[in-house]
Amino acid sequence: MVLIAAAVCTKAGKTIISRQFVEMTKARIEGLLAAFPKLMSSGKQHTFVETESVRYVYQPLEKVYMLLITTKASNILEDLETLRLFARVIPEYCNSMDELEIAENAFNLIFAFDEIVALGYRENVNLAQIRTFVEMDSHEEKVYQAVRMTQEREAKNKMREKAKELHRQRMMEANKKGRAKGLGFGAYGSSDAPTSLTNLIVETSDTANFVPDSNRPSYKPKPKPSSNSGPGAMKLGGKSRDVDSFVDQLKEEGENVVSGPLAAPGTKLTPISPQIMNAELVHLRQEERLNVRVGRDGGLQNFELHGLVTLHISDEKWGRIRVQIENNDTRGIQLQTHPNVDKELFRAHGQIGLKVPTKPFPLNTDVGVLKWRFQAQDETTLPISINCWPSENGEGGCDVSIEYELKQSDLELNDVQINIPLPIGCNTVVSECDGQYSQETRRNTLVWTLPVIDASTKSGSMEFIAPSSTPADFFPLQITFTSKTPYAKIKVSEVLLVEDESPVKHSVETVFFTDNYEVV
Ligand SMILES: *[C@@H]1O[C@H](CO)[C@@H](O)[C@H](O)[C@H]1NC(C)=O
Repeated sequence: MVLIAAAVCTKAGKTIISRQFVEMTKARIEGLLAAFPKLMSSGKQHTFVETESVRYVYQPLEKVYMLLITTKASNILEDLETLRLFARVIPEYCNSMDELEIAENAFNLIFAFDEIVALGYRENVNLAQIRTFVEMDSHEEKVYQAVRMTQEREAKNKMREKAKELHRQRMMEANKKGRAKGLGFGAYGSSDAPTSLTNLIVETSDTANFVPDSNRPSYKPKPKPSSNSGPGAMKLGGKSRDVDSFVDQLKEEGENVVSGPLAAPGTKLTPISPQIMNAELVHLRQEERLNVRVGRDGGLQNFELHGLVTLHISDEKWGRIRVQIENNDTRGIQLQTHPNVDKELFRAHGQIGLKVPTKPFPLNTDVGVLKWRFQAQDETTLPISINCWPSENGEGGCDVSIEYELKQSDLELNDVQINIPLPIGCNTVVSECDGQYSQETRRNTLVWTLPVIDASTKSGSMEFIAPSSTPADFFPLQITFTSKTPYAKIKVSEVLLVEDESPVKHSVETVFFTDNYEVV
């Protein structure tokens, strides 16, 4: 979809605010907006109207209309979906949806509109993400921060008191038993919550004579658990409600606990890490998704790559940072930074930092900071090509040869699956196959699986006989894969503090995968 502008106007057609997303003259946008009420009054109650050049999609909201102007070539269903997202943003910032309120909140609304577009209206953008970004610029920010700090201070004091008390109790118990237990740190998945909790508290309190146990494992980032062993398994189990809420409080404080006087610099002692258990406090995720459609006789019909770098900061200590991006790609990938990101800094130095360097990035949320898009017309850009060649064998069926070839030798593709449709009830006989295959009768599909394709396994093939079939039966083929090597030659190379440009410890997760890759 090509979004030309988003506007809010009165029922009478007067524009209250309007945000343009493509370059155009003021006269042109004013003309487009002025035409809207005329089109409305001439027609019946629709949700869209079209002129020779553009489409208006709109939604009534009490006394106003949320209005999007798109090109006519854009997909109307997508337009309507996007419209709904824009419309949902308005009550977020305005109590009553009338002219005055809209005008009063014009800047917040425009920021929010920008977020929707910057975060990619086709992806799952939620209101919380939009809100977080807008809040950064809002005048409420200071109030919000002050309240939060007070709350945090209170919580901290409460914890310190409770910690002291628990420590006293523990010491008394230990004395009774005649010896003190070592300070275990078995909080991961431990059901023995009160004990591990005590240990944690001892760590965080200002207790003197604290001797660290040499057996204590220090917290290290782990590779992401592959499936369902999510953070849930690592939660501290709590038995009573009190313990639960106390642990929550502790968690809320997160790394503040660690940065206390007892934590040696550079070490992480707490198992209560932020939301992402296996990530650093500054975590970046580089994600690329690929959509490809290739004709069965060759010819690229569609190639679209979308890249997104999200930043997740879990400690306000690291809120004011810059992310250094290294970009070697020369294939014409279009990069776009978030509207709050300093464009000039990115252009000149490849660094992602906020326009207002004294402001921190939002905390504890995934923030999209950089996007890219690459559309190609040339088959040489494909990561992998598939050549499926069925030929009639004169016995009412087909002999089918399929081969793959890795086109970008720097890539390593994992879990490659080539799904070949079969006519219903067809039992294939596979005569040759690199990798593995399985016939999934229920789905009428022959699945060819290659766990790894890289420069050392650049090409491979499979041959099978399919009785009672015609060459058209084997299309469209669907290909899926994942990869830890990025498609674009872009990576996060460094994270630096704004203040003194010292390096910040961070983790980067890179994923490249297929959304939809088909040979039709
Ligand atoms: C860019 O090129 C340099 C020099 O060849 C190389 O060291 C670096 O890893 C490359 N970076 C990316 C993101 O490909």
